Amino acid sequence: MAVHKFNRYMDYIRTHRLIRFVLASAIVLLLAGIICAIFFGTWVRLFIDHGRLTPEWQRPAEASSGRQRRAAAVSGRPTADEELVLRPGSMTFEWWARPPVRPFVKVYVYNVTNADEFLNNGSKPVLDELGPYIYSQEWEKVNITDNENGTLSFHYKRTYTYRPDLSGRSDDDAVVVPNIPMLSATSQSKHAARFLRLAMASIMDILKIKPFVEVSVGQLLWGYEDPLLKLAKDVVPKEQKLPYEEFGLFYGKNGTSSDTVTMFTGYEDMRKYGIFERYNARDKLPHWTTDQCNSIAGSDGSIFPPHITKNDTLKVYDKDLCRLLPLQYLRDVESPAGVQGYRFTPPLDVFAADDHNRCFCPAGPPCAPSGLFNVSLCQYDSPIMLSFPHFYLADESLRDAVEGISPPEPEKHRLYIDVQPEMGIAMSARARIQINLAVSQVVDIKQVANFPDIVFPILWFEEGIDELPEQVSSLLRLATKAPPIARAALGWGLSAFGVLLLLLAVTCLIRSSHRQSTLRLEGHAVAKPPPAKVPSKDNGYELNNRR
Ligand SMILES: *[C@@H]1O[C@H](CO)[C@@H](O)[C@H](O)[C@H]1NC(C)=O
Ligand SMILES: *[C@@H]1O[C@H](CO)[C@@H](O)[C@H](O)[C@H]1NC(C)=O
Ligand SMILES: *[C@@H]1O[C@H](CO)[C@@H](O)[C@H](O)[C@H]1NC(C)=O
Ligand SMILES: *[C@@H]1O[C@H](CO)[C@@H](O)[C@H](O)[C@H]1NC(C)=O
Ligand SMILES: *[C@@H]1O[C@H](CO)[C@@H](O)[C@H](O)[C@H]1NC(C)=O
Ligand SMILES: *[C@@H]1O[C@H](CO)[C@@H](O)[C@H](O)[C@H]1NC(C)=O
Ligand SMILES: *[C@@H]1O[C@H](CO)[C@@H](O)[C@H](O)[C@H]1NC(C)=O
Repeated sequence: MAVHKFNRYMDYIRTHRLIRFVLASAIVLLLAGIICAIFFGTWVRLFIDHGRLTPEWQRPAEASSGRQRRAAAVSGRPTADEELVLRPGSMTFEWWARPPVRPFVKVYVYNVTNADEFLNNGSKPVLDELGPYIYSQEWEKVNITDNENGTLSFHYKRTYTYRPDLSGRSDDDAVVVPNIPMLSATSQSKHAARFLRLAMASIMDILKIKPFVEVSVGQLLWGYEDPLLKLAKDVVPKEQKLPYEEFGLFYGKNGTSSDTVTMFTGYEDMRKYGIFERYNARDKLPHWTTDQCNSIAGSDGSIFPPHITKNDTLKVYDKDLCRLLPLQYLRDVESPAGVQGYRFTPPLDVFAADDHNRCFCPAGPPCAPSGLFNVSLCQYDSPIMLSFPHFYLADESLRDAVEGISPPEPEKHRLYIDVQPEMGIAMSARARIQINLAVSQVVDIKQVANFPDIVFPILWFEEGIDELPEQVSSLLRLATKAPPIARAALGWGLSAFGVLLLLLAVTCLIRSSHRQSTLRLEGHAVAKPPPAKVPSKDNGYELNNRR
């Protein structure tokens, strides 16, 4: 066997092996690219939930108690960094406990400008909407206790600061509003014995209590001394006592709340992330007729269980609203910082007087008119009715009963929350609620004898956040935009590299097959060397020639 030919043959084999290797790599890369493109979303999802890339079914069997799991996590298994779960020390926990946001409350007060004519002449009340009176807020959760069972207990602490610079007016402005403690008492006495009503009338005469009061906006919100409440505090037996002698619509909200709240952290079940488990040791409300309506299994509106789809109904629980507020997808939004999100808003029939709201009317029928929500059971039996501002989504007749309220506009008066769907974080929000007083006419009490049955609007407010700070926004942008980009980059990159290698392999293959035919050709040439060929020092040639 000629050495030269053997060398060439080995060369040929080597080239072929290389080509086969390149070909295999190309195919692997192509497949990797495709798999990456398909499954990357799932990985990101797993990472958001658990901070690990092992799917649920591949994890070792979970230790039963939270404490054991935590111990396992600490021991270095990759379950350690579940970033979204609210665990002391994690990034989301810090944001949750002390949100780096600047929430605000804008209050609009309906000043009554014709109180005397309304009472004496039967005119419609003429209202003048004053505002906004703007307060900035600071949110904090204090006395946080980890219950070691996937829940945290804590107290809300909210500090309000009046911002004359933003409001352009003072909250010392004097306004004329219905006397809510008085009208609550008279409306409640409607079904009491007649002598009680007469007694009430004389007490009110002595205390010089009138159906309208002139107070400052600050007093209306944060409290003023009310003679009736003071009296009640002194005479009513201890157990029936109202908790305060001051009256204010936001009374007691500035500072640490006395309510102990227990919330799921997402440790056991991400679908309960940020959902209330208990509110003051109760796991449901006592007021309504069905378990569904008594449920408090909602979030406070700042975080939601992640992976929100457009079909989901988000639920927000608010103590003052006295029920869960369902929110449904409205449209896509993009925040000024460039984070994509969904806008969620209550369905149009949320306060409708229909069958699905019958459970909220234990004393009825008759029930509250469409568009109003009767919270009197949560407000010490005061006939307080909540609605959306300007009676948005409510019966036209309510707005017609007064003068000075412009027709509702969805963009200005709708309640909404913009969420980042993958992580379930609220990016911006407007919680808009109007407080109304449902007055019942009581002719036996002379001070209010001319006060007709009416739903009297008092004020509306808008509580919200405009924008998350840049550090949070950039993280959210990463969560929304990075996965698709990364997936595209990775998938396309791998695929492109695969294609390149494939081309290389094919080129090599063609080249080598070309060379192979050259080899054969050369074999022929051996038999019949070209005549022009001059014998050279080339070994191969000489060897060939000799043969
Ligand atoms: C509210 O209305 C009353 C008249 O009823 C008026 O005297 C008062 O100035 C008004 N308040 C403001 C801040 O405009
Ligand atoms: C009461 O109403 C009558 C007729 O509607 C009107 O003439 C009169 O001026 C009103 N009185 C006041 C104080 O507005
Ligand atoms: C913190 O919470 C615990 C248990 O809920 C309670 O006993 C304690 O009084 C609270 N401390 C403060 C300062 O609220
Ligand atoms: C977790 O523990 C707290 C405090 O002991 C308790 O109030 C709560 O109901 C428990 N939650 C669950 C889901 O077991
Ligand atoms: C709320 O409380 C803080 C301090 O506790 C106080 O500085 C602030 O003025 C209060 N805000 C209002 C609106 O009363
Ligand atoms: C949402 O619900 C509609 C109708 O119920 C259904 O056709 C659609 O597939 C659902 N979409 C998702 C993403 O679940
Ligand atoms: C509001 O609810 C209370 C308590 O259930 C009830 O007594 C009252 O009649 C209700 N008001 C209206 C207007 O339905």
